Amino acid sequence: MRWTRRTIYEAGAGYQASTGTIEMSLLEVRNLTVSFDTPEGEVHAVNGIDFSLEPGETLAVVGESGSGKSQTALSLLGLLAENGRAVGEARYRGRDLLSMTATELNEIRGEQIAMIFQDPMTSLNPYMSIEQQMLEVLYRHRRMKKAEARERAVEMLRQVQIPDPEQRIRQYPHEYSGGMQQRVMIAMGLLCEPDLLIADEPTTALDVTVQHQISRLMRHLRTNSNTAILLITHDLGVVAGLCDKVLVMYAGQVMEFGSVEDIFYRPQHPYTRGLLRSVPRLDRGDESGMHAIPGNPPNLLELPAGCPFRDRCESAFESCVQMPPLEQLPGGGLKRCHLEAADE
Ligand SMILES: Nc1ncnc2c1ncn2[C@@H]1O[C@H](COP(=O)(O)OP(=O)(O)OP(=O)(O)O)[C@@H](O)[C@H]1O
Ligand code: SF4
Ligand SMILES: [Mg+2]
Repeated sequence: MRWTRRTIYEAGAGYQASTGTIEMSLLEVRNLTVSFDTPEGEVHAVNGIDFSLEPGETLAVVGESGSGKSQTALSLLGLLAENGRAVGEARYRGRDLLSMTATELNEIRGEQIAMIFQDPMTSLNPYMSIEQQMLEVLYRHRRMKKAEARERAVEMLRQVQIPDPEQRIRQYPHEYSGGMQQRVMIAMGLLCEPDLLIADEPTTALDVTVQHQISRLMRHLRTNSNTAILLITHDLGVVAGLCDKVLVMYAGQVMEFGSVEDIFYRPQHPYTRGLLRSVPRLDRGDESGMHAIPGNPPNLLELPAGCPFRDRCESAFESCVQMPPLEQLPGGGLKRCHLEAADE
């Protein structure tokens, strides 16, 4: 999918509309740090990030592989690997998710907060039919009777374009192709119309037509159910069409934050500009990766002092040996860079 000026303007309009009313933040993340104990030492995957999400808002988290996007999301729901540790605060409706017990998190997960992953088999149970799995969710969280639950489950499968859903709902995950399993998992995530949907690369493995359908479904959910979406993605095309705000991460830090319009048309950070240049664009005649940012992200075992992007940044200068603070921009965004803010 390619972004277009129109989709960006539509998303930008949504941003203004969503910021027009002041509501309590649905999710408020403060100084979130995620680290992992490994035989080589402590891996610093997320290094003190802040963000918030209002009801009905869609925030994209973008960044190269290894920048800490997934670990940010997993930490919110207590799903880090055993050697991982999250410190800081993540207040969901005022309650800190990071200090909840497993039972408390289980109650919230699946009903109020749903998470969908790139790999469907992390969420689907291979030993239960799709019907059993979907109905169980509705029995548990919605207390529906069988006929009503089945009708709702079939309808969700139809919405994610599963053909012949009345019949296919009886099948087991292995009877579905990879793309179809992905769609089933998305349908399960959306079944209870959660207040917050965390979607980690939900459409990456799908073909373009299905990607469009899923994006449309998420837009519909946002508009009709006021569901907030935290979307982790490499696909800036999806970001332009669906998101209000964008958080750009690098080496576990927030490098830039802004409205989708600002990020696409007035990016302030050299890393954001690099990411935008690296997106394949048909209008430039390049198909893939021709403008990838040269070099590699820093070693998370030994983060360098100063700006973590320094070794790869074309604009680096003497001051960059100091870590730049996260600075407020006149338009409401944030940037972590010593360069002066540019107008264009
Ligand atoms: N269990 C673990 N032990 C040690 N390091 C880990 C562990 N899990 C993740 N990491 C490290 O944390 C860093 C951030 O990982 P994360 O999964 O958040 O990246 P990401 O931004 O989602 O990348 P991608 O786009 O490839 O999914 C990576 O360098 C990864 O190797
Ligand atoms: S602080 Fe310096 S090295 Fe870092 S992005 Fe800005 S100019 Fe580049
Ligand atoms: Mg990831």
